[in-house]
Amino acid sequence: MISEVAFAKINLYLEVTGKRPDGYHDLVSVMQTVSLADTLTFRACEGNAAHLFCDAAGLPTDGKNLVIRAANAFFAVYGAAFGVEITLQKRIPAAAGLGGGSADAAATLRGLNRMAGCPFSPGKLREIALAVGADVPFLVEGGTALCRGIGERIAPAQNRADGVFVVAIRGEGVSTPAAFAELDRLFGEYADYLPKNSPEGLLGALTQGDRHRAAALLYNSFEEAVLPLRPAARELKEALLEGGAAAALMSGSGPSVFGWFDNENTAERAAKNLISGGARAFVCHAVSDTFSGKD
Ligand code: C5P
Repeated sequence: MISEVAFAKINLYLEVTGKRPDGYHDLVSVMQTVSLADTLTFRACEGNAAHLFCDAAGLPTDGKNLVIRAANAFFAVYGAAFGVEITLQKRIPAAAGLGGGSADAAATLRGLNRMAGCPFSPGKLREIALAVGADVPFLVEGGTALCRGIGERIAPAQNRADGVFVVAIRGEGVSTPAAFAELDRLFGEYADYLPKNSPEGLLGALTQGDRHRAAALLYNSFEEAVLPLRPAARELKEALLEGGAAAALMSGSGPSVFGWFDNENTAERAAKNLISGGARAFVCHAVSDTFSGKD
């Protein structure tokens, strides 16, 4: 039996810059994996298909789950399917902007690659990953990266800024397509969109380990589209700042919000307060490398 940890991602920077003819959107994003994670275990079984077992109520375990989609994508490129039972312990909130389903898919690609004797390099796994979802290629290796295109053009970056994150969520999720549709409405389908920001300053501050400068440069286009629709997310953002976060930002298309804290104690206290107010909150750290099957 082998296991893989599927780390969630947060977006330290996310600017949607245009709409493509295929309906997807171009974006510029600084992604960071964090220690909030699901766990997957893989066990060989009879037959030639992947079977998913999951402890979370309401989560599909058939072809609608990205784990099964990733397994089928892997088998197609590998040229053969084999029997595998995959058990998923879910901890990352779903439909929250934390890449939970995508992280599970990426962990599935890593796990099946190990089961098969590591036939594929990380680069090849990223290629397979793109067919499963836009965030999956980054999550194959995780760490810190500047991602462009729909997320598939990945330039690894360094984050020496340390600190502690509190990831919080309350209330309903928003579907990613609905959040993009709201952005299209706000930005007039991006016909004359000019980038408002640039991630360069943030990347420089992360490399230099200047957390306070980095915190001031966090940005997410989706805040404009989603915060007005999700007052609970707005309140969480305010509560994180009042609780001592150097900055707080929505992650992905929301509605999760993360705060960036200087130390563990302040972060723990802020998380406790949010939980006693009815939110879910997780104290976590940046994780620099998620790949356990390197060849
Ligand atoms: O690739 P993924 O399945 O995560 O994307 C879900 C949906 O989000 C897509 O069907 C698309 O509507 C939207 N999307 C987009 N541009 C991206 C990523 C996702 O429009 N870069």
